[in-house]
Amino acid sequence: MEKSTGFEFDDLQGLLRFGYGKLTESCFMLLDISDAAVARRWLATAPVTNAVAASPPPATALQIAFSATGLQTMGLRQSLLDGFSDEFITGMAGDESRSRRLGDILGNAPPHWQWGGNQEQMPDIMLLLYARPGEMEAWRKSVESEGFRAAFRVRVILPTNYIGALEPFGFADGISQPVIDWERRQSTDLHERDRYSNLLSAGEVVLGYPNEYGLYTSRPLIDPREDGLAAGLPDAEDAPALKDFGRNGSYLVIRQLHQDVPGFWQFLDKAAGSVPEKREELAAKMVGRQRDGAPLTPPVGEDIPGIPPDAPSNHFTYDLDVQGHHCPISAHIRRANPRSGDLPPGVTGFLSRLLKILGFGRKRADEDLVASSRFHRLLRRGRSYGPLLAPEDAVKPEAPAAERGLQFIVLGASISRQFEFVQNAWLMSGKFGGVQQERDPLLGTREPLANGEPTDTFRRPDPTGPVRKTCQLPQFVTVLGGGYFFMPGLRALRYLATLPATGSEKDHE
Ligand code: HEM
Repeated sequence: MEKSTGFEFDDLQGLLRFGYGKLTESCFMLLDISDAAVARRWLATAPVTNAVAASPPPATALQIAFSATGLQTMGLRQSLLDGFSDEFITGMAGDESRSRRLGDILGNAPPHWQWGGNQEQMPDIMLLLYARPGEMEAWRKSVESEGFRAAFRVRVILPTNYIGALEPFGFADGISQPVIDWERRQSTDLHERDRYSNLLSAGEVVLGYPNEYGLYTSRPLIDPREDGLAAGLPDAEDAPALKDFGRNGSYLVIRQLHQDVPGFWQFLDKAAGSVPEKREELAAKMVGRQRDGAPLTPPVGEDIPGIPPDAPSNHFTYDLDVQGHHCPISAHIRRANPRSGDLPPGVTGFLSRLLKILGFGRKRADEDLVASSRFHRLLRRGRSYGPLLAPEDAVKPEAPAAERGLQFIVLGASISRQFEFVQNAWLMSGKFGGVQQERDPLLGTREPLANGEPTDTFRRPDPTGPVRKTCQLPQFVTVLGGGYFFMPGLRALRYLATLPATGSEKDHE
């Protein structure tokens, strides 16, 4: 245990605490288990990196996550699997209504995916390897030992490519992240929280701790009297007689998102009359930041917990830009995290807070959603892939098309309340914060609504004149694959490694 916070960082996989930004080489392997007994033996000694802050920081890292079928194949019994959330068990592509809500329709639909599109295509395990430049090959060799090859079949190796701290459209990425409140400094009580905070309860990213509601998210708990192997697992904080298989574990959501970089910049160039400054301005308004990451919104004067005042790239809310004159309401970062506090500005006193919480006295169309932004924060850990193409080259008609995009990864304690909510209600919705006929300008599908209304518009409110509209946006991002995984704590990994052979394994012996 690290003395400074008392948090069990030695039981947490490191990715929950660090983005491994200096380990610029990454390799994401999707594996099937070919021999569960050998897989358990491999897992018992696998060099999984924990979240203790080491000095010097590690030169390599290994993280491991399991799909629901992967946990089952490892031998986790059904009664424990049932303790995970329904969406994890059903899977990202497991039901049509979920696909519709996530925008996984038409060209994005799971039958078109390269991996994860149905149960048979869903890998058992995801391994995430990180290394310093030039050190990945050796690291992979040491991970892929003889036991590894006997235990697993490699299904897919997802491409990644470090192009600086950029995403493929050319914007600085990885700037805004929640700061996890490992020390439990911040109250979750609504009456004590009346403005935007970037500090987020540990229970929002790891299971086994209070979340932003002050509650424990459900997870598999074990009665040690019925399962002697569980003795090494941590106690459940909210039910001390039980052992907690979920504690220090997190759900991992991955989506392989293809980005049409030439298509994006050529569309913007045309819409901007081929004036480079106007093209840049339109692109920045769509993202909500300049290409170098500078925000469009003026900084707020007051403190924002979890954001140092000297971090101008993040020291803002939308309170000073209610109309979207600086950052359009539909801009990607404003949809993905509407910030602006747990309650709208100026709401003080118990009674008026209560009225707001109960939904009375709404004056602005976006008040309902900003009231809940802290329940939908995402810890992003994605990496880009494909060759770098600078916007200045992408606008040229001869710009080379290539496989480029993001291996978009988020970690969290609730897939439905975090990733699925943000993706569905904020990014893909045709109605957001009082704006209609638009979806996320970067990611949106452009299908009309059921009533025939278009959704392919992007509006930029202008304080000096009428709203500026860009129409007929094409779809710039296509889903190529995806899945829901669980990244256990280290003691839970050890528990998995000691499980006995299941009935079906014995049948094969
Ligand atoms: C190819 C797809 C995507 C691209 C190109 C993209 C690009 C960006 C960029 C340039 C930023 C600003 C930099 C930063 O704050 O780190 C950003 C922020 C963000 N994106 Fe995305 N993104 C993509 C997909 C997604 C998806 C699928 C989600 C959620 C389901 C998402 C959620 C977020 C969030 C939460 C932020 C931080 C917003 C804030 O706190 O201000 N992004 N993205």
